[in-house]
Amino acid sequence: MILNLEDQIKAALKVNYVDKSKRYMHIMGVYEKSIKLSEHYKKDTNKVILASLMHDYTKYLSKEKQIELMQEANYDTSISSNLYHAYTAEYLAKSLYGIKDKEILNAIKYHPTGHPKMTDTLKILMIADITEENTRDYQVSKEVRKYEFISLDKALKIKLEYMVKDAKKRNYELSDYTKELIKEL
Ligand SMILES: [Fe+2]
Ligand SMILES: [Fe+2]
Repeated sequence: MILNLEDQIKAALKVNYVDKSKRYMHIMGVYEKSIKLSEHYKKDTNKVILASLMHDYTKYLSKEKQIELMQEANYDTSISSNLYHAYTAEYLAKSLYGIKDKEILNAIKYHPTGHPKMTDTLKILMIADITEENTRDYQVSKEVRKYEFISLDKALKIKLEYMVKDAKKRNYELSDYTKELIKEL
């Protein structure tokens, strides 16, 4: 039986995350929420399906393996190591699964930070990442959920405002992409 891409990635996630059931549930929650949002806003559901399944695909690779993949992809390893998983997942989406669509690839790559050029796929992925119902029960999740089916931009804005507060509280620097995006919203 030849599996389509969606089923291939799902099968790989099941194997890779066999000991990480919470993260597996998170990914599947993001997948389900992304589809719902995409259908609600009449967007291209195929794009969010692949972006959501891939977004945390490499989350638990060792730091060594992450760096190895970053170098293989010619990505700058001086970025925050918290962002490696997004870049390496984007790289595997291309190199392992042959995904070429830039909107899907950029959504995977920029899902933790956002980007000044936001596509609908990236907006939906960033919102679903915080509002999925399987594992996210933070206060910010509840706030963003109030708006996610009303306005993607409003929902995203609430998430970004939270990211600004969190960065201040925990004393870390936001990515330049996030800072630029905030100016535009
Ligand atoms: Fe992530
Ligand atoms: Fe995630």
